[in-house]
Amino acid sequence: MAIIAKNEHICIREMEACAADFDQHLRWMTSPEVLEYWDGEYDDGSIREMYYDHMREGVTPCFIELDGRAIGYVQFDRIPDADGYECPEADWARFFQPGEMIYGVDMFIAADADRNRGVGTQMLTLLSRAIFDKYGADALVVDPKTHNARAIACYHKCGFKDCFVVPQREAHFDEVFDSLIMRMDKPN
Ligand SMILES: CC(C)(COP(=O)(O)OP(=O)(O)OC[C@H]1O[C@@H](n2cnc3c(N)ncnc32)[C@H](O)[C@@H]1OP(=O)(O)O)[C@@H](O)C(=O)NCCC(=O)NCCS
Repeated sequence: MAIIAKNEHICIREMEACAADFDQHLRWMTSPEVLEYWDGEYDDGSIREMYYDHMREGVTPCFIELDGRAIGYVQFDRIPDADGYECPEADWARFFQPGEMIYGVDMFIAADADRNRGVGTQMLTLLSRAIFDKYGADALVVDPKTHNARAIACYHKCGFKDCFVVPQREAHFDEVFDSLIMRMDKPN
């Protein structure tokens, strides 16, 4: 099992192509607590398809474990340019320079009971160090919906700074929301 980063309580490990991980991911992706934030309609086939698409596209899907219990999911991948992050070129160019190695990160903690207890901040702090050190990133980018105040607060605590808002960027079932693009630089 490939471990991306860990501390005493939290472990971020790569999702594996095995029944247990596909089943767990499917349970999450069909639970109301996750669907409130991530959109999509999944079944066993499409969960597996998404995993293999990620493998082809260079996305690293991971499980977040707290004291050995899988509590959520995080994925990261290299973002080549504005187009690859569905952002207007002019906005992107004000905050991201050509040649910089930028990684995008997306995550959820699945159960409401595990949220708001500092785990997201600890996890993302651990993960960011690993992406900077092991993957050679210059900066990370996240794209919370502008009304997702908890995610934005968590990202601020981790060291992300607000860059710009992209109106009507993210569909969530029947609605479309604005995204706040946030950047964290590799610490000196
Ligand atoms: C976003 C998420 C990963 C953050 O992880 P977390 O463990 O809940 O976050 P933390 O507890 O480390 O930090 C949350 C902070 O937001 C604050 N917060 C919570 N609700 C808030 C609100 N409505 N407005 C402002 N701040 C809020 C908390 O007080 C806490 O800050 P504090 O420690 O200074 O008090 C997690 O909440 C989650 O998975 N949410 C659902 C899915 C999601 O939104 N994913 C992100 C998509 S971009």
